[in-house]
Amino acid sequence: MRVVSRLAIETLLRRLGWLGPEIRQALASVADKMPRYVEIGGCKFTLYYFLPHVLAWSRHLAHLRGKANVAALEIGSMEGASACWLLQNILTHSSCNLTCIDTFTLSGQSNALDIYEPGNLGAMRDLFEDNIRRVGRQQSVTIIAEPSQIALRRLPLSLYDFIYIDGSHMAIHVLQDAVLAWQSLKPGGVLTFDDFEWGEDEGLGRLCRPKPAIEAFLDIFSGRYELLDKGAQVTVLKICE
Ligand SMILES: C[S@@+](CC[C@H](N)C(=O)[O-])C[C@H]1O[C@@H](n2cnc3c(N)ncnc32)[C@H](O)[C@@H]1O
Repeated sequence: MRVVSRLAIETLLRRLGWLGPEIRQALASVADKMPRYVEIGGCKFTLYYFLPHVLAWSRHLAHLRGKANVAALEIGSMEGASACWLLQNILTHSSCNLTCIDTFTLSGQSNALDIYEPGNLGAMRDLFEDNIRRVGRQQSVTIIAEPSQIALRRLPLSLYDFIYIDGSHMAIHVLQDAVLAWQSLKPGGVLTFDDFEWGEDEGLGRLCRPKPAIEAFLDIFSGRYELLDKGAQVTVLKICE
């Protein structure tokens, strides 16, 4: 809560240019007393959204935990919350690998709390890489810093045991990510979409949200997967191509 309060104050200070110098100084000194990062599993994050997913992921990925040579792919890594959890809890064998695709630009997201501005986006990638170092697994991680809709076309077919789609939240991008990622997922592999319900409360237009894309995917690929979960996240097990 204290990290989020600091972010909220910093966001207000950036957005409310008309605030007088005394109020600015008072707010800034309150923010300064609050921590900038939340520390989880030895890593540092400015925002940690991953906690609510831990139970479901532990269940859906239990068969991969501790196994050798597991290959995972993540679209959207940001500061590395989901990546670090995977490395510390599922991809624990040193032969496992995780490919992370991220533009590190925060495009296609809500800007409710604009943690990063165009001038300091490099800090997000630095924090991601620092967190991967903190879990001691740089050798297991491949970073592809480009739009997933392009990068996915070059990835091998039927390779990954797990794919997580949490990049751009625009429906057009989520649909492309889903169709392209499906080809790279092994039969028997698990595919998870984040933020099925995201954006409704913010009043974002239908096509600025993941839901229509995820629903279209579930409809068109029906019969080829088993539905494991449909709530804040959607998870399917691939049965066949
Ligand atoms: C919600 S965040 C990912 C959060 C992360 N999975 C976690 O658990 O902390 C979404 C990320 O997707 C990235 N992104 C946005 N559009 C993208 C695109 N077209 N291709 C790849 N990454 C993208 C953003 O830079 C951002 O870091």
